Amino acid sequence: MRIAFRPALLALIAAAALGSARAQTRPLKVGLMLPATGTYAALGDMIERGFRLYVQEQGGQLGGREIQYFRVDDESDPSKATDNVNKLIKRDNVDVIVGTVHSGVALAMARAARDSNTMLIVPNAGAGAITGAMCAPHIFRSSFSNWQPGYATGVVAAGKGYKRAMTITWNYAAGQETVKGFTEAFEKGGGKVAKDLSVPFPNVEFQALLTEIAAQKPDVVFAFFAGGGAVKFVKDYDAAGLKKTVPLIGSGFLTDGTLEAQGASAQGLQTALHYADNLDTPRNNAFRKNFALTFKANADVYAVQGYDAAQLLGAGLTAVKGDFAKRDGMIGAMRKTTIDSPRGKFTLSTSHNPVLDMYLREAVGKNNEYKGVAVKALADPGTGCKM
Ligand code: PHB
Repeated sequence: MRIAFRPALLALIAAAALGSARAQTRPLKVGLMLPATGTYAALGDMIERGFRLYVQEQGGQLGGREIQYFRVDDESDPSKATDNVNKLIKRDNVDVIVGTVHSGVALAMARAARDSNTMLIVPNAGAGAITGAMCAPHIFRSSFSNWQPGYATGVVAAGKGYKRAMTITWNYAAGQETVKGFTEAFEKGGGKVAKDLSVPFPNVEFQALLTEIAAQKPDVVFAFFAGGGAVKFVKDYDAAGLKKTVPLIGSGFLTDGTLEAQGASAQGLQTALHYADNLDTPRNNAFRKNFALTFKANADVYAVQGYDAAQLLGAGLTAVKGDFAKRDGMIGAMRKTTIDSPRGKFTLSTSHNPVLDMYLREAVGKNNEYKGVAVKALADPGTGCKM
């Protein structure tokens, strides 16, 4: 039997085939939503550089697919977050969103990603709910949960024999959750947190709180600040004369990407984080060298997390040969991948958060130097995640 195709039908079939081929070969649209202004501006910049560096190392492609960038400055402002993320989702029609730094902004992004079923990779913000109650198959994190560095620093502080601590931070999800992680480990290790102090984000008026610390004289102060706020806090702590009298410890963001601006005030500070500048591995050395050559600047933890966000997306796209329409195959590959990160190899927990070796570091010159492993293979509990 002969099947006679009409010319019009043939044209339609050809057009459909061409359309789907085009959909797979057009560049993949990546929407970068990061802070370009405000206290976290430098962090956003480093994440973007790290992401672009990995893509550039792959010849501008991931899994054989060209990458096209769209950008939005989120200003680390949660009140603008939903409008900002919708510029990428609805206006630019991006395939993947990558962002952001601030936990409050990232929570709104996760909500929008869930509502629109858009893939989201979080390259910093540690809000527990992103890989907890709000987890979803298409939401991933290449960084940490706030609980992880807090908990690791608590282990370190208890191990040093400190008994009475005060904490100080910004009063929003990242500060609260990091302090919670610190308190859990510190009190499990025999210490007691006597008092939690905070200022609203992104305020940097620390004087009254520093006066209170001086009056209370705890054995140790635990701090979570980052970016411009961390620079100001570490300098103020030193200027108040506290550096010599009350030991200061922090999750590593306190001194990451900030050492040059903090100068002598930061030297000798010990922190815990999932990265140390001088990790002497071929992977880290090659990464730092290429980063310095490309950007004429030294990489930091934020650059690593951006680089690893691109690696994670690359693992998914490679598995489906660049065909983003094969979402299940992509997600399956991303879930199972081992990321060969400058921080050391890591896998993801079932809720899509990195399982991390946490390092003790000390600020020496321009580096946060490796001092040892604080906690091996630390996994966020992913409380509330059902996938
Ligand atoms: C956050 O808001 O989750 C956050 C911001 C800056 C950091 C770490 C966490 O360095």
